[in-house]
Amino acid sequence: MTKSIVNAIRTVPDLREHLAARRADGSSVGFVPTMGALHAGHCALIEAAAASHGEVVVSIFVNPTQFEDAADLERYPRTEQADIEMAIAAGASVCFIPTVDEIYPRGAATTVSVSGGLSNRLEGAERGSSHFDGVATVVTVLLNICQPDAAYFGEKDAQQLLVVRRFVTDLQIPTKIVAVPTVRSADGLALSSRNQRLSDQETVQALAIARALAAAAEAISDGTAGSPEEAETTGRAILDDAGIACEYFEVTSPDTLARAERLDGELLISCAARVGDVRLIDNTTVVANPTREAATARS
Ligand code: PAF
Repeated sequence: MTKSIVNAIRTVPDLREHLAARRADGSSVGFVPTMGALHAGHCALIEAAAASHGEVVVSIFVNPTQFEDAADLERYPRTEQADIEMAIAAGASVCFIPTVDEIYPRGAATTVSVSGGLSNRLEGAERGSSHFDGVATVVTVLLNICQPDAAYFGEKDAQQLLVVRRFVTDLQIPTKIVAVPTVRSADGLALSSRNQRLSDQETVQALAIARALAAAAEAISDGTAGSPEEAETTGRAILDDAGIACEYFEVTSPDTLARAERLDGELLISCAARVGDVRLIDNTTVVANPTREAATARS
């Protein structure tokens, strides 16, 4: 079946009409929500969606309710024409580019909020828990508008992925949530729309984030670190050496984000740091050395 390509749709009724026709043709719908400034990481999400669905909707919407800092919202890169071209080249069938009024036509009186550590720790603690309320609310609205069979999210935003999985389960939203691995530059920097704001020197500095995560993960897997704190100290030292201001560097449960009390099983290591005035996040997972665990248990 030939794929019909409509570059941009801006209103909810137009998108619904377009998708109704595509569903009537037998296409399933994959959805990739974005805030624009697309890069290869977004393309990996779009390509994953295109591999499984006849119709792929990419939303481009800089959601004001998930920014606590007005200056951060103002500075967020906006590159609409380049985004449309990149999305279509990666396999999108249509870009949904609504205005703020289209998404919140009567203002934002209703909030979807996931309570507890999933929203309050790490990013929630640094940015304010209303950040994830903003994300959960806009993703719910977008899923209701699109009603996709599956929606695609990057593992770079591991906490966002957990929050989304939780409210989709709790609200019984019939969309499958698919996680796509983080895409990195050749030298390891996790791709992010914010990287555009790094100078050349800051880009080199920012590489220390992936190095710090890798070193902490290695210290856990090879048994050099005897506790989560020791692994965190290893990572923080690398950020300090690179002159990067660390906001958090934490070893946690990958499911609940509770702070790890011991090195046991699968762990998530998450980091947020400021390079100049650009705030970056990254994470990695690691399995604590099973041999050492067994030895510790026996002693
Ligand atoms: O990850 C993002 O770009 C945003 O948080 C999302 C999921 C598009 C919601 O605005």
